[in-house]
Amino acid sequence: MCGTDKMCHVMAIACQKGGTGKTTTAGNLGVGLAKMGKKVLLVDADAQGSLTASLGYREPDKLEITLASIMGKIINEQEVDSAEGILHHEEGVDLMPANIELSGLEVSLVNVMGRERIMQDYIEKMKPYYDWILIDCSPSLGMITINALACADSVLIPLQAAYLPVKGLEQLIKTIGKVKRQINPKLQIEGILLTMVNSRTNYARDISVMVRENYGSKVKIFANSIPESVRAAEISAEGISIFKHDPKGKVAVAYLSLTEEVLGIECESDLQSEAIEVAVHQRTVENGGTE
Ligand SMILES: Nc1ncnc2c1ncn2[C@@H]1O[C@H](COP(=O)(O)OP(=O)(O)OP(=O)(O)O)[C@@H](O)[C@H]1O
Ligand SMILES: [Mg+2]
Repeated sequence: MCGTDKMCHVMAIACQKGGTGKTTTAGNLGVGLAKMGKKVLLVDADAQGSLTASLGYREPDKLEITLASIMGKIINEQEVDSAEGILHHEEGVDLMPANIELSGLEVSLVNVMGRERIMQDYIEKMKPYYDWILIDCSPSLGMITINALACADSVLIPLQAAYLPVKGLEQLIKTIGKVKRQINPKLQIEGILLTMVNSRTNYARDISVMVRENYGSKVKIFANSIPESVRAAEISAEGISIFKHDPKGKVAVAYLSLTEEVLGIECESDLQSEAIEVAVHQRTVENGGTE
C-alpha cells in the first residue's frame, strides 16, 4: 500500500531501447503535473542532454552545473546546495540539467564506493522541496540508470508501439527486479505507456493488443496511450511543452489524461509489480533460461 506519509514521489522514466518517448514523456508529464498544482523537479539523467535541450537550454554542453558536476561533488564528499544548478522553466517545472560530462562520470563511477547510490544522495536532498521528481533515463541499463532506479519509488516504461518490444521489456523488468531485491526494495513498476501510436495502422494496433495480452494482467498498461503526431516531434525544437505548442491537439489531451491517470494510480502499483516479477520468473523457467 502507498503510505500517506509519502510527500514526494520519485519516478524514473526508463526503457533501454532508444527513441521510445522517454524524454518527451518526462517533459510533458512534468509540465502536466505542474499544471495540476504539483511542485515538480525534472532530472535529466542522460548524457545526450535531450530533456535539457528540449526545455530550451539548447547548448547543454556549455552548462557548468549539471547532474554530473553535482554527482561529482557528492563523490568527493563536498556539500551540495539544494538550489545549486536548478533551472526554472517558464511552464512551472524545475530542471536539473545534464550534458556529455555525465558519460565521463558514469565511467569513473566504477571505482567509487557505493556507486549505485550517488544519485540517491542528491534526490534525498531535493525531496523536501518537491511533490514529484521525474528522472529521464538514457537508453541503457548502465550505472546512471541503475542510480536512478536505486532512488526511485516507481518506474514508468514508455514503449513505442511500432516494433516488437517484448525482449527488451523482459530485460528491463529483470533489471528492475534485481535492483528491487538488491538495492531498493520499495521500487515499483508504475506502468507501461504506449507511445507514438498510429491507430490507423494494423501493425500498431497489433502491438498494442499484444502488449496488453502479454502484460496487461500483470502490470499496469496505462489506459491512455500517446498518439503519433508531428506536433509532438516539433516541441523539442521549441523549448516548450505540448500544452503550449498545441494545447488542443490530441497529444496534449493524451498527456493531460496520462497526468490524471498517474495521479490517480499511485496506490495501485504495488500488487502489479509483484505479479509481473512472478510472471517473468515463470517465463524464464519455462524457457529454460537463467535469471
Ligand atoms: N507522440 C509522438 N509522435 C511523434 N513523434 C514523437 C512523439 N513522441 C516523441 N516523438 C519524437 O520521437 C523521437 C524520440 O522521442 P524521445 O526523444 O522522447 O525518445 P527517448 O526515448 O527519450 O529517446 P532516447 O532513447 O534517445 O533518449 C523524438 O524525435 C521525438 O520528438
Ligand atoms: Mg531521451
